[in-house]
Amino acid sequence: MMRILVTAGPTREYLDPVRFLSNRSTGKMGFAVAESAAVRGHAVTLIAGPVTLPTPDGVRRVDVVSARDMLAALRAELPTHDALVMTAAVADWRPRECSPQKLKKQGMRPVLELEANPDILRTIAPEKGARLFVGFAAETGDPLAEAKRKLTAKGLDLIVANDVTRADSGFGVDTNRVTLLYPEAGEIRQHSLPLLTKREVGDRILAWLEGRHKNAPAQNKDS
Ligand code: PMT
Repeated sequence: MMRILVTAGPTREYLDPVRFLSNRSTGKMGFAVAESAAVRGHAVTLIAGPVTLPTPDGVRRVDVVSARDMLAALRAELPTHDALVMTAAVADWRPRECSPQKLKKQGMRPVLELEANPDILRTIAPEKGARLFVGFAAETGDPLAEAKRKLTAKGLDLIVANDVTRADSGFGVDTNRVTLLYPEAGEIRQHSLPLLTKREVGDRILAWLEGRHKNAPAQNKDS
């Protein structure tokens, strides 16, 4: 049994009480990973951005809104978990200012000033220790090349490359077509999976995590 932390959904970055920057993530992929992990007997915490999905049975859920909220929740939860699966589509940018009052159309400037959000995976990398970290890569260009770059740049054990230009995979749908990439014996192995339901993709990721956890040196396991 592992203690698995999953992030899901988008983040919202407000510029006033009624307007925000966000993306098309619905949380389906992350909720499917959380459900798969719970059904397989793991203890699961799901950190969810604003989504409308019901919490899978047996899953403990923490709701967040912005990227900075998600980072804070992850920092609080990470010490008590063995693995992280980061499916969330975190907004890379936020408005430089968030007005406490609804901005008036007349007074608004047509240019929105932004500042960078933290890269959550890079920020928590120093706290990784022996934990297994899985990232996703949502790509519209060359998914495998970008996923390989992110696998190394973000210090991940596994990355799930997602071509989000296809109608049957990526945002909003119940299916996904992904490639798993991970370093092994000095090279990057890749397994392209057929079109699967998101729940089946969750099962493949869980099977990979269980295999890695089982083969990890005993001192790396505290569960
Ligand atoms: O929610 P659904 O509608 O089911 O859609 C599923 C999905 C398309 C959102 C999902 O399958 C997916 O691809 N999630 C990753 C989306 C993403 O943000 O990819 P990225 O290539 O921008 O980021 C790479 C990795 O870094 C991701 O694990 C991401 O969580 C993480 N990240 C990104 C930005 C940031 N500021 N901090 C991060 O940690």
